[in-house]
Amino acid sequence: MEMTPERWAFLGRYAREVFGTEDEQMEGLMDRAVAAGLPRIAVSADVGRLLKILVSLTPGRLALELGTLAGYSGIWIARGLATDGKLLTIEYEDRHADFAESEFADAGLGDKVEVVRGAALEVLPEMGDRLGPESVDFVFIDAVKSEYVDYFAAVKPMLAVGGLLVADNVYGTGQGWIDEGYGTDEFNRLVGADPDFEATVTPMREGILIARRIR
Ligand SMILES: C[S@@+](CC[C@H](N)C(=O)[O-])C[C@H]1O[C@@H](n2cnc3c(N)ncnc32)[C@H](O)[C@@H]1O
Repeated sequence: MEMTPERWAFLGRYAREVFGTEDEQMEGLMDRAVAAGLPRIAVSADVGRLLKILVSLTPGRLALELGTLAGYSGIWIARGLATDGKLLTIEYEDRHADFAESEFADAGLGDKVEVVRGAALEVLPEMGDRLGPESVDFVFIDAVKSEYVDYFAAVKPMLAVGGLLVADNVYGTGQGWIDEGYGTDEFNRLVGADPDFEATVTPMREGILIARRIR
């Protein structure tokens, strides 16, 4: 039996039904965000759970997210951290950052998560200097797709050996897909060929790259 577009769509719904259970706060989060005028472009719950599991496989002391939006993925990441672990999440839009801060507080994560305001490529150099090399256990890239190559250059020195780099939308977005000449092909190939990383992709949602820094 062949994979059809209908079957592919069904399997996505199936994965969200079976592996995408959420608590009450997470369930209502994106509806509240959309009501507040934010776009519905967060990861799905099954991907959120993947993020949490991956963070919890690292020491979970410090995680970094590029692209906070409403705090949905950030809450999943923060829930995978060690007890004293911390998430720094970078967001360009003040309106998104304000909304996310309030959700992090409501989720009881106000002390664990810091929203850093600004454009990722402007914030990261200072952050790298402040945190130092190999200080971050987990990085989730989910901001401007055309900037992924530059994000990789900025976060690579910050990532600890054994740490994980995860990126969303590596097959594309609603605006265009890799086979149409859009997307993050250059980034995927760069990480895939980097001898300091072991990387793969899972076709969940719009493609999730998972790479482990091995040296
Ligand atoms: C796809 S959304 C993030 C979704 C979020 N990670 C989640 O799954 O819940 C991308 C976010 O990146 C923000 N953004 C756009 N340009 C940015 C930049 N240069 N630096 C940091 N954030 C940026 C957008 O405002 C938006 O909130």
